[in-house]
Amino acid sequence: MICASVLSADMAKLGAEINEVLDSGADFLHLDVMDGHYVPNISFGPAFTAACKRSTTAYLDAHLMVSDPVKYALPMIKAGAHGITFHIETVENPVYVAKLIRSLGAQHVGITLDPETPAELIYPALDEVDLVLVMSVKPGFSGQKFKPEVLPKCEAIKKRLRPNQRLQIDGGIAPDSIGSARSAGVDWFVVASAIFNTKDRPAAIRTLRQKLG
Ligand code: DX5
Ligand code: ZN
Repeated sequence: MICASVLSADMAKLGAEINEVLDSGADFLHLDVMDGHYVPNISFGPAFTAACKRSTTAYLDAHLMVSDPVKYALPMIKAGAHGITFHIETVENPVYVAKLIRSLGAQHVGITLDPETPAELIYPALDEVDLVLVMSVKPGFSGQKFKPEVLPKCEAIKKRLRPNQRLQIDGGIAPDSIGSARSAGVDWFVVASAIFNTKDRPAAIRTLRQKLG
């Protein structure tokens, strides 16, 4: 799956941008929620998510880069987010948080970890999640360079996933990095700048898919 991260869209024409990338071949949308505390940037939250929801019926995959994911999960689901992913670094009891987010009605619950966070930290919560997101850049900004050093972590996590669990990667995914991520077992690829910052978006998405083989 190619998950188009709206962070790099032209927000002045949000509805048109969303529909263009979906018509261009993106599978669904990835929403990067940033609170200025967990990451040094502020992006958007529930009101923006509701605006996305009014623009499309596509699946909305929310990535909460916030210090208190429990506080924002329900407002995001009410605003129309289908899936919710939280950072292991922001919670004390990931099993409790995953169960709680599921009970709030999330269609998928994901857990994610920063590039320097060891994979072992998420293992106790693996049974409770549908998705593991490996960050391949320091979260906070789109347009950063892919960190290939996270690939062994992808391989290690993939080995522990059930067939119905997904491995997602986020950060610096472009034609020159997507193939190595696929080889490391990644199923879902978050892409912001390599789609939105190109003039020919169908061609950009085609090229990414070709690299997947
Ligand atoms: C990074 C965000 C990403 C980001 C990806 O903090 O979580 O989703 O938008 O951007 P690119 O694809 O440009 O690296
Ligand atoms: Zn993201």
